[in-house]
Amino acid sequence: MPMSAFADWAENLREAVGELARYRQESCTGAPPVVRQIPMAGIIESLGLRKHLQEGGLTDGTLHRFLRDYLDLTVRLHHPGSMAHQVAAPHPAAALAMLVEGATNNPMAIYEMGPAAAAIEAFLLDWLRAKAGWPGGAGGVFTHGGSLANLTAIVAARSRFDKGLWAQGCRGDLALIASADCHYSIARTAGILGIGEEGVFAVPTDGSGRMQPEKIDETIQRALSAGRRPFALVANACSTATGIYDPLPEIAAVCRRHGLWLHVDGAHGAAALLSPRHRRRLEGIEQADSLVWDAHKLLCTPGLCTALLVRDAAALDHAFHEDASYLFHEKAQPGFDFIHRTVECTKASLGFRLFVVLAALGESGIAAYIDGRLELTRQAYLLLSRVPGWECPVEPQSNILCFRMPGTDEDQLQIRDRLLADGDFHLSTAVLGGRRYLRMVLTSEATTLEDLHRLVSRIQQMTKHL
Ligand SMILES: Cc1ncc(COP(=O)(O)O)c(C=O)c1O
Repeated sequence: MPMSAFADWAENLREAVGELARYRQESCTGAPPVVRQIPMAGIIESLGLRKHLQEGGLTDGTLHRFLRDYLDLTVRLHHPGSMAHQVAAPHPAAALAMLVEGATNNPMAIYEMGPAAAAIEAFLLDWLRAKAGWPGGAGGVFTHGGSLANLTAIVAARSRFDKGLWAQGCRGDLALIASADCHYSIARTAGILGIGEEGVFAVPTDGSGRMQPEKIDETIQRALSAGRRPFALVANACSTATGIYDPLPEIAAVCRRHGLWLHVDGAHGAAALLSPRHRRRLEGIEQADSLVWDAHKLLCTPGLCTALLVRDAAALDHAFHEDASYLFHEKAQPGFDFIHRTVECTKASLGFRLFVVLAALGESGIAAYIDGRLELTRQAYLLLSRVPGWECPVEPQSNILCFRMPGTDEDQLQIRDRLLADGDFHLSTAVLGGRRYLRMVLTSEATTLEDLHRLVSRIQQMTKHL
């Protein structure tokens, strides 16, 4: 790119940052729609994508205009009506970190390619390890997302179980024991690793999504009867649909008895470890073998940013094998290559994103944020479960709440679509026990109890016209 393409880079950045600050502030007021569902072809057309590629020159002043149009078409996660998905409303410090990342482009999985970012990642992993109550000797890596981290953890578990499988491949006789309500990335992991989806044996959950530990033994027996070798168990902390935590101490005891690797998928809920008030939800985590912890869900960090912690660092260090003469050779270096612990080769400075958020808020600040969103979710539960005819099937333990208003499954979907079309509220849905529920995930700091009252009134008005 000729340097002339950005005549005044600093000025462009100032303008862009100003635009983003306006965007964030405007979103927090709730004035613009939280989301606009415009057909894709319309967006391609209105942003002039074809023209820009043909003609080039999207720089300086024109880029600023394009950015404004683009922002107008985004989902506004800082909006008070943003309640749909498990995605953080990012802290501005993290956005700045991503700007630095974009400008420096230091893929840090090889120490010499990003020493500052690698040092921050190592420091932060150790800090998170201590928050989980694990002793030194544990190790970890940041990955691009919880799905990839789950896969990586199961690779480590499989390697420890049978070192030969890396070279020989699976024979279709492994079994993964997992909560019936585990995230779909676990079944994908089984498919990718050659365990096969049929190699995932589900431990039944109660109506709330909580694993029933007394059913683990019979699940293991089912796997053994099918001629499979169980090697790991996946527990949720917390579950995706309802935000409910599995009982880790009881689960850990069964895993110990059977010699199973205990993997805790804390992609959504491990954040509670940073709250003195809520960390009890993860009681028993100190007995787990691995833990996945997303920062882009409840830690105000933009995606993707996931910490994978493994109690015995050696298991992760021996999980992958690789050969690349241009990267791996004897060298004296004052740091550590994370590349041996991850699927990825080129890897962004993920720890840096999270570090700046934590350093901006401080430990008490992030705890206050988590406590605030969980408290609001509890208040939402009290409010919604008292509305005549409405039901909240599960008392929340995180910032996720499922609810249902009178009517059919189709009615729940229709209400969501109408709210979306109006642009005031963005909700998701989930199926529990064969019935569809509306679902909210409260992450925006702009959302208040008043907004939840407004949501109830709006839905009640809408149901009159269903
Ligand atoms: C429990 C759980 N695990 C894993 C994931 C996947 O994480 P990611 O979206 O970061 O890949 C999710 C996402 O919702 C989740 O809720």
